[in-house]
Amino acid sequence: MDKREIVTRFADAGFLVSPQVVNYISESGASGVIEGIIAALPEGISVVTPKEVSAMTPLRTDKLNVGVSRTPEILLGREGSSIPLADPESSYAMFRDRYDTLAAMMRGRVNPVPLEALVKTGNRFMDQEIGLIGMVSSISTSAKGHRIVEVEDPTGSIKVLFNKNRDGFAEAESIIPDEVIGVKGQLARDSMGKTQMVFSDTLFRPEIPMTHTFSPSKESGKAVFISDIHVGSNTFLPDAWDRFSTWIGGREDIGYLMIAGDVVDGIGIYPDQDKELEIKTIYDQYDRVGELMAALPDRLKIVISPGNHDAVRGAEPQPALPEEFRGAFPSNVTFVENPAVVNIQSVNVLMYHGRSIDDLIKFIPNASYEHPGAIMEAMLKRRHLGPIYGQRTPLLSTEKDALVIREVPDIIQTGHIHISDIITYRGVLGINAGTWQSQTSFQKQMNITPTPAEAVVVDLSTLAYEKYTFLT
Ligand SMILES: [Fe+2]
Ligand SMILES: [Fe+2]
Repeated sequence: MDKREIVTRFADAGFLVSPQVVNYISESGASGVIEGIIAALPEGISVVTPKEVSAMTPLRTDKLNVGVSRTPEILLGREGSSIPLADPESSYAMFRDRYDTLAAMMRGRVNPVPLEALVKTGNRFMDQEIGLIGMVSSISTSAKGHRIVEVEDPTGSIKVLFNKNRDGFAEAESIIPDEVIGVKGQLARDSMGKTQMVFSDTLFRPEIPMTHTFSPSKESGKAVFISDIHVGSNTFLPDAWDRFSTWIGGREDIGYLMIAGDVVDGIGIYPDQDKELEIKTIYDQYDRVGELMAALPDRLKIVISPGNHDAVRGAEPQPALPEEFRGAFPSNVTFVENPAVVNIQSVNVLMYHGRSIDDLIKFIPNASYEHPGAIMEAMLKRRHLGPIYGQRTPLLSTEKDALVIREVPDIIQTGHIHISDIITYRGVLGINAGTWQSQTSFQKQMNITPTPAEAVVVDLSTLAYEKYTFLT
């Protein structure tokens, strides 16, 4: 096979290819080799080297649902796994990882051309549909109300215009900074023939594949989902918690309790917080939580990830609660990072406290605190938990972007905004169970009405759910 043709065919699929691989394919002469290699490439690869080709095995195994472990298995977010990187290169590495991973999810649908090629050799792409994949660097609205989005890939940047009169403009209006999108459309050029921008016909997102289906637990089992207990606050609801605790004691069918952060109210989290604290020290707050956990049946496997009120660094990914605060907790509690993916009886639960909801709400039209389900859906479509850099959610530079949703979860659990909601999106169950504190003075100011004392029970063999309330 002609070497130039090999390079072109990889380029058309959005990959660069090393000379050794070109030689190998050119000598093997077999047709279909290139397609085979492209189909078997792992996610996140942009340059194909001998390493990728030699690592290929003829069989790719997906999630195998054999055997059921009753111990929660931490797939992502194991204690100590999120290590901050200090050098300035690392934020580039993180964004590059985000781009590569999310671009790989769209490449087959979009057939992207590198942006440098679109800008520098626009003539090649005249009068034909082109595809591109880029990370959003700026968003503006034209005088006529069209949306203009500048995107970047590792080779360059270009502006894309989304026409307000076309179908799908609502999706374009919900484009947010730093998300990775795919576009199909036409190049627009000025009178000198220079590439100006792309007129979008279709917007793509990494998405949950339409073909995604839930792979159920083969054994019966149930898990209960809660978050935002806020022990230590004078608005924590001890009576409601006691009712919950008594109820779960009688529910032999429930094997797991998943808690998505803010287990304590913390110290110094907001101005004048001390006036609203019933338990004044952070150690006493955690000791009280430990007592509450110890009072629950010890058959329960309890998983706790932190939130922004917990005694860990605020920047995400957040580490698991340190040893020094765990003295009063029973041994059936597992501490994980935020975010984390925990496998319970073969069902994958993505736990994320949800601080980024505060940011996403500002950028997504019609999003509101009353319906966090819509935000969970936005996260799933973008395959990212909180993509916006420089907003309220502090992000830590890590080698891999910890907030990318790499594998499709069976359940996504969030918290933080203290309002419950449940959604199903393309077979993924989204749960926000609310809180265990009544309305705070801050929420009163903000006109936010919480939904306290709720718990959501999920059957792990069907994903059927029931919501319970313990307010009275
Ligand atoms: Fe909270
Ligand atoms: Fe929170």
